Amino acid sequence: MSEDLLQVAPAGALVGELSVPGDKSISHRAVMVGALSDDRVIVTGFGASADTLATVDAFRAMGVPIERVGDDGLVIEGVGMRGLRPPDGVIDVRNAGTLMRILPGILAGQIGTFTLDGDESIRCRPMRRIADPLERMGVSVETSQGLPPVTVHATGAVEPISYRPPVASAQVKSAVLFAGLFAERGVTVVEEAIATRDHTERMLQRAGVPVDRRPGYVGISPVRELVLPEIAVPGDFSSAAPFIAAATILQGSSLTLRDISINPTRTGMLAVLERMGARVGLFRRRLAAGEPVADIEVRPAELVATDIEAEIVPTLIDELPLMVLLASFARGTTTIRGAGELRVKESDRIATVVELLNTCGGHVTALPDGFEVLGVPHRLRGGRVDAAGDHRIAMLGAIVGVCSQEGVTVEGADALGVSFPDFADRLAAVVA
Ligand code: S3P
Repeated sequence: MSEDLLQVAPAGALVGELSVPGDKSISHRAVMVGALSDDRVIVTGFGASADTLATVDAFRAMGVPIERVGDDGLVIEGVGMRGLRPPDGVIDVRNAGTLMRILPGILAGQIGTFTLDGDESIRCRPMRRIADPLERMGVSVETSQGLPPVTVHATGAVEPISYRPPVASAQVKSAVLFAGLFAERGVTVVEEAIATRDHTERMLQRAGVPVDRRPGYVGISPVRELVLPEIAVPGDFSSAAPFIAAATILQGSSLTLRDISINPTRTGMLAVLERMGARVGLFRRRLAAGEPVADIEVRPAELVATDIEAEIVPTLIDELPLMVLLASFARGTTTIRGAGELRVKESDRIATVVELLNTCGGHVTALPDGFEVLGVPHRLRGGRVDAAGDHRIAMLGAIVGVCSQEGVTVEGADALGVSFPDFADRLAAVVA
């Protein structure tokens, strides 16, 4: 059997407790802000995965000493806001879109030429969306016809702007906000028609940056130094989501997920699930490192179809593949619109989700910007599917497997390493 094959048998229920790796978005940002800090920064709960370790290696290559401590700890010796040095060669972001898109904003304040490149999938991901605003800020950014590799010729000079991104993207917002830290004077503003995840704003605020936040508006003032207190990264809601989906579908389930980030810019799945009749409870709510955290309890439920519209899409963008699975188990037809961004993720997730679900007996139709999903009144059949080099598609395949009649074989399951290297073991531990 190839190492890349994951065979997932049908399950009756998911039972017990589990934790998931630290939030990927917050982990990337902890390394970024830690590296720019004036002092040592301790990170616990770091979600070590191929993506976040690409960020660690990128900053090490730019002269930042970062030590790993155990499975989920980091000690970062910050080099100060303008202390990054061009590495000997190209910065390899591998599969990490968040690194590819945010790092140029940080490089804007450095001095030298930096080139970023990545794997085959990264080379298909649009980069004009960050090059355009950064150029308006006076930063020279070269792309290969709008795609990676990306070269930043940084002089350290940055002009503030007021920017309204044409796509709802936290990566774009973050690149602009990071660049705004280096402006000589003046407030850099990002206005969003639809709110996206706000981890950058929260972490910069915690590091002492004056951040002006109002609905649809973030203003950031330049600073001379960042001081980030110790940061404990909560569990990744996007990694908890596959388990929430399976425990909702599998009758007899009773599952508790511990210490999960419930930042409202990330938990649109819970709001939609509530409309669909799911039984998900949040307990032990608290704040950790400026982020809301809770334990999540899931019981099975009979689901009804719903519609998911553009306004809520950024709050569940990475969970939409799972929403298509949940809709497949719901009574009625679910429509998901305003999600064209899925076409430029690690794979074209509209195409790969439709292919996967229909191979396994689902009834899903691709729309230009979403899906139409017909609920089926029985378990999906199962089958052999391809992860298409996409970690979220690999997880979807595995979850379809536990919810199927015959099981699922996922080809290319090594993609799981991008965000959740021991996903299969943690799933096996709660299958009953
Ligand atoms: C992320 C933002 C989202 C998301 C990605 C992580 C981030 O992308 O899909 O997995 O950490 O900022 P976009 O900002 O491009 O929508």
